[in-house]
Amino acid sequence: MTTPEKQNGHARSTNGAAKSGFGATSIWQLVKERRTRDALYHDAAYWDARASARDGLARSIWPSNTFNALWDERQRELLLRTLGDLAGRKVVDVGCGTGRMSRFFAACGAREVVGVDFSPSTVEAAREESRGGAGQVRFVVGDVVGGLDPAMQGTFDDAVVLGCLSVACRDLASLEVAMKNVAGLVRPGGRVLILEPIHRSPLLRRVLDLGLEDWIGVANRAGLELLGGDRMGFVPVRLFLSVRDLPRALVSPFFRAGEALLDKLPYLSFMSDYKLLVFRAGGS
Ligand SMILES: C[S@@+](CC[C@H](N)C(=O)[O-])C[C@H]1O[C@@H](n2cnc3c(N)ncnc32)[C@H](O)[C@@H]1O
Repeated sequence: MTTPEKQNGHARSTNGAAKSGFGATSIWQLVKERRTRDALYHDAAYWDARASARDGLARSIWPSNTFNALWDERQRELLLRTLGDLAGRKVVDVGCGTGRMSRFFAACGAREVVGVDFSPSTVEAAREESRGGAGQVRFVVGDVVGGLDPAMQGTFDDAVVLGCLSVACRDLASLEVAMKNVAGLVRPGGRVLILEPIHRSPLLRRVLDLGLEDWIGVANRAGLELLGGDRMGFVPVRLFLSVRDLPRALVSPFFRAGEALLDKLPYLSFMSDYKLLVFRAGGS
């Protein structure tokens, strides 16, 4: 892992390579990072370093901010389609990164939104980005595996987890713990939405090496009943266009075509990077 630092207002790694969203992170860098992912992604220091080394959405998502804008739009559509009207609801965004979705939930009318992340620098960036907002969003430091603030237990209508558990959890046992912690956040009858890269292939998996059925089993044991699912992130497009800042006019048609394929042809689900699972918490 390179040590990121800011130079002349541009974020660069100590090996001199420009960091994203400046557009020069290569696929090779991503592959190298993937080879050491088990030691990186579950460590708050890694996300702290990213928060200061990258710009914009690249602090929490992909190296290319062109790609991130499209990714963000697609996830918003998917979440709205799945969750419907959020007006008046209390929502927790677990592994919130710099808070893009927390702010979106507030903009959709959520009564209160709490973003939780274990990286203090990322939480600070989320607070900074949200300054001057309507005020119903707040961010706290918390570890979904190590344990969350007991005062939050059972207080939310919806818990949303985007791309966090697949990096936070190393094995089945830690996913069991984290899922119970997430499930414990919502009131009986509340919902848990998980949108994660769920893979067993060495190229595509992040830290956790478990399949979709394993995830559903873990959720069921945490008292969650599956309501439905969806998918996004057409893998060929994601692999080639997420690492380098290319013009939006070039990236957008490929991105949209890939997502349209996933929407129209469910049997292509195996070519999706992220799987969406939505559950209802038992007890109502
Ligand atoms: C891929 S980023 C996704 C961020 C955000 N959900 C989004 O989609 O923009 C993963 C986030 O999970 C956070 N994270 C990783 N392990 C965590 C843990 N054990 N507890 C809480 N947050 C964690 C990281 O700090 C990082 O911000």
